[in-house]
Amino acid sequence: MRKIKAIVYGVGAMNAIITRMMLEKGVEIVGAISRSPEKVGKDLGELTGLGNSLGVAVSDDPAAVLSLGADIAVIAINSYMEEAQQQLRLCAEHGVNAVTLSEEAIYPWDTSPQITQELDSIAKRSGVTLTGSGHQDTYWVNMVRLLMGTAHRIESVTGQASWNVDDYGPEVAKDQQVGASREAFEQWLSSSSRPPTFGRNILDGLVASLGLTPISVTTATKPVITEQSLPAKSLGITVPAGAVAGFTDIDEIQTREGMRLTFEMTGRVYREGEADINHWRIEGEPALELDNGAVPTQITTCSQLVNRIPDVINAPPGFVTVEKLPLLSYRPLNLENYLS
Ligand SMILES: NC(=O)c1ccc[n+]([C@@H]2O[C@H](COP(=O)([O-])OP(=O)(O)OC[C@H]3O[C@@H](n4cnc5c(N)ncnc54)[C@H](OP(=O)(O)O)[C@@H]3O)[C@@H](O)[C@H]2O)c1
Repeated sequence: MRKIKAIVYGVGAMNAIITRMMLEKGVEIVGAISRSPEKVGKDLGELTGLGNSLGVAVSDDPAAVLSLGADIAVIAINSYMEEAQQQLRLCAEHGVNAVTLSEEAIYPWDTSPQITQELDSIAKRSGVTLTGSGHQDTYWVNMVRLLMGTAHRIESVTGQASWNVDDYGPEVAKDQQVGASREAFEQWLSSSSRPPTFGRNILDGLVASLGLTPISVTTATKPVITEQSLPAKSLGITVPAGAVAGFTDIDEIQTREGMRLTFEMTGRVYREGEADINHWRIEGEPALELDNGAVPTQITTCSQLVNRIPDVINAPPGFVTVEKLPLLSYRPLNLENYLS
C-alpha cells in the first residue's frame, strides 16, 4: 500500500505542527508552498523546527508544486473564503484534494454561497474534495451534534468557548485586532467589510445538519480590553493597558421551528496560567451539558486536520463540509491504512 502524498500549503505556526504529525502518521510530503522570501528555497524540515532536512524546498510557485502530483494539500494560511478561495481553487484545478484550517470553510454555504458553489463545481469537475476542518470540526460541530442526538426535544443550544491568540501565528493575532486602540477597534467593527464571525459558520453548520430553517441571525461583538500591559508573543509586541487583547463574538440563530442556538466565542491573548474552555448547554428534554475542561486547542486543531486526511480523500468530489463526513476517528496506524 503506497503512502499518502501531501503538499504543505502555507508554512506557518499550524502547518509546522501538522507537518510533524503527518510525518509521524506515515504521510510523504512531496512539496511545500509559502510566500515570504525568508522561507522560499529553505528546507521544510528546517523551517518547521524538525531539526532535520526533509529534502523538500519551500516554493512560492503553487502551480508548479501542485503539479507534482499529490493526494492532498493541507492549507493553513487564512480564515475567510474571500482569500481562501484562491488556494482552494488552485488545488481543485490541479486535481488535488484539499483540507483547510480557514475557519469560514467549516460551513461556508450561507456566508459565501457564490464562492462555495463555484469551488464545489470546480472540485466536482476535477473529481476532488475540498473541506474545512480544525478545532471546530469536533469540539464545536460534531461533538455538539452527538450530544444533541441524545436528546428527545431541544429548545436551545448555548456554547461558550475561548482560545489563546498567542497559540497561533501573526495572521490570527491581526485578525483578532490585538494591539488596536479602542477607537480603531470600533472603526473596524463598524466597517461594512467585516468578514463573518467564526461562530456564525459553526451555528450555520449545526442548523443545516438538523434540517432547520433560520429566521434570524444576529452577531454582537465586544472587545476584550486589557487592564494591564500584556505581551502578545505572536506579534512580538506588548499590548498597552487600555488597548485590545482580542474580542468576543456572540452569535445567535433563531429557527422557524423554535430552537435557538447561541455561541459565545472569545479569542484573546491570555495571561500566564489561563486555559481554553469549551462548554455547551442544551435546554430541553433532558437538559444536557458538555464541558471539556482545559482544552489544548492548538494541538486539537492540528490533530483533527491530520486525522481527517483519509476522510477527505475518501469523500465524494465537491465542497464537502464536516457535518457530512464520518465521525472523526483516532488514527493509530499510518494514514494510508484508512483509505477506502
Ligand atoms: N480552524 C481552526 O481550528 C484554526 C486554528 C488555528 C488557526 N486557524 C487559521 O489558520 C490560519 C493559519 O494559522 P497560523 O497560526 O498557522 O498562521 P501563521 O503562522 O500566520 O501562518 C500563515 C502562513 O501562511 C502563509 N501565507 C500567507 N499567504 C500565503 C499565500 N498567498 N501563499 C502561500 N502561503 C501564504 C504565510 O507564509 P509566509 O510566512 O511565507 O508569509 C504564513 O506562514 C489562520 O487564518 C488561522 O485563523 C484555524
